[in-house]
Amino acid sequence: MIVQINQSLAKLNTFGVDQKASRLIWAHSPEEIANYLKHHGAPALVLGGGSNLLLTKDVEGDVLKVDIHGREVVFEDDNHVQIRFGAGENWHEVVLWTLMQGLGGLENLSLIPGNCGTAPVQNIGAYGVELQDVFVSCEGLMIDDCAPFKLSRKQARFSYRNSIFKNAWKGKAVITHLVLKLTKRNHQIHADYGAIKGELEKMGISKPTPKQISDVVIAIRKSKLPDPSQIGNSGSFFKNPIVTKEKAQELLHMYPDMPSYPAEGGKKLAAGWIIEKSGWKGYRKKDVGVHKNQALVLVNYGNATGREIHALAQKIMEDVYARYGIQLEPEVNLI
Ligand code: EPU
Repeated sequence: MIVQINQSLAKLNTFGVDQKASRLIWAHSPEEIANYLKHHGAPALVLGGGSNLLLTKDVEGDVLKVDIHGREVVFEDDNHVQIRFGAGENWHEVVLWTLMQGLGGLENLSLIPGNCGTAPVQNIGAYGVELQDVFVSCEGLMIDDCAPFKLSRKQARFSYRNSIFKNAWKGKAVITHLVLKLTKRNHQIHADYGAIKGELEKMGISKPTPKQISDVVIAIRKSKLPDPSQIGNSGSFFKNPIVTKEKAQELLHMYPDMPSYPAEGGKKLAAGWIIEKSGWKGYRKKDVGVHKNQALVLVNYGNATGREIHALAQKIMEDVYARYGIQLEPEVNLI
């Protein structure tokens, strides 16, 4: 365990917001986390990859940074392999590492910022695949009594950008490991998502391999989404809203070109489309803005504060509500 006093968190959140932690604790194993919890109780904040976090103030107290590494095969048969990853393993490095070994399953989730441990929290998803499609289990410790837990897919209660960790277990558990199930052959290719299909057609590929899907996803993401190491951001700032079929019908009547998809009993709308139609795409004030290629993404061009980013998010939410009667919900955690 490493302890740093009065430490800037600027490099530990992908927005690059410069707020401080009174103490920053780096934990490298479940034992170190248990030891910390036994002696200090709940930390003010548990930090993973910092890719889904907006810090609007300094953290008065301890930030526990989960820095557990490791990749080990825990099960293998002719068709599948299950691999257990430390929560601190970088997500995209893991994706590339599995593809290099010819394994399938993670290709559509290429280039998502963050670490393995935070992937289940918001059930990361992109281009028709969600973490729950490859998830076997995750392990960790309960914060109040250090009791170890292991959750199956069913127990993790996944839904769109959601899981038990954002609801009943919010702030109550630290994830230390993640087990994923990957294919060795007969890969389940998901190439139906509009942008992927278009790219593959352009390249003349009709039977893509997982690696080719990953290459296409990386190219699409690079063309639309800002690289957090260049421009601070946390991917989609808002969730795509799910509305009733009736509400969607009403809106489609007024805006026939509005994208909408069936989801969880209603219709999922594209918040990026709505925000763009409301005139916010490419907006910039000082160092805060709405990305020019993807209106769902708020950006820090340099020295924006978390409060400035939050204020812009609120303005957008109010404006969208006034225009469309749709209540947008942030995808990122506000601290
Ligand atoms: N659109 C616009 N203007 C915009 C952005 C999007 O008109 O500025 C339209 C697009 O033309 C398309 C529709 O909205 O018709 C959907 O856009 P896109 O395919 O880019 O996906 P998204 O709904 O904006 C979601 C995820 C992304 C994920 C992509 C691809 C959420 C909140 N976001 O974005 O996830 O990469 O689909 O699957 O579900 C993230 O969560 O951080 C993230 C980047």
